[in-house]
Amino acid sequence: MKFTVAIDGPAAAGKGTISKAIAAEFGLAHLDTGLLYRAVGAKVLAGAEPVAAAEALAPDDLTPEDSLRTPEVAQAASRVAADPEVRAKLLEFQRNFARREGGAVLDGRDIGTVICPEAEVKLFVTASAEARAERRFLELQGKGHAVTREQVLDDVKARDARDSSRDAAPMVAAEDAVLLDTTEMTIEQALDRARAHILLKM
Ligand code: C5P
Repeated sequence: MKFTVAIDGPAAAGKGTISKAIAAEFGLAHLDTGLLYRAVGAKVLAGAEPVAAAEALAPDDLTPEDSLRTPEVAQAASRVAADPEVRAKLLEFQRNFARREGGAVLDGRDIGTVICPEAEVKLFVTASAEARAERRFLELQGKGHAVTREQVLDDVKARDARDSSRDAAPMVAAEDAVLLDTTEMTIEQALDRARAHILLKM
């Protein structure tokens, strides 16, 4: 069976949580495509050239997940992600993953628009910048990062602006995506909606 679920949206809207839960529940493979850009961003912070770093990306680069989930790496990821050559180097891997036998969930910014325009299910998960910043703040604080609410809100807004205004694969809902605004939802409510939509298409 080839079945692709594309989940896009801005940072901390709930994409990751929904993607992981849906993948586990339906027995689909899951790729968090943000990790690819974060891994390239981390290499660039360490001195690498962005396109070469994207070309040389290996599975091992994605495993130190905690070190990729820092605000610094997030900003670096968002900067390298605006480069069309970097995006081109990461395209084939994502497309192959999406069409693997057994089905896949991919989450990111351009899955429903560029990577898998033919995906059977497309969700665009969003929430207010304030709600997203609050969730990210609690998550980072829980991991022991020294951040303030204000810093996290500024970071979220800067990334949103850069990700949606770039020319190469900007963050935008696909025309045929179902919108899910999680501002006022619990995780369970958001999951119920996502699940119901997938069941309709299966
Ligand atoms: O989703 P996450 O916050 O981990 O993504 C980090 C950055 O990677 C985003 O801010 C965005 O610039 C970039 N990204 C992208 N396209 C994707 C996934 C992530 O441009 N499909």
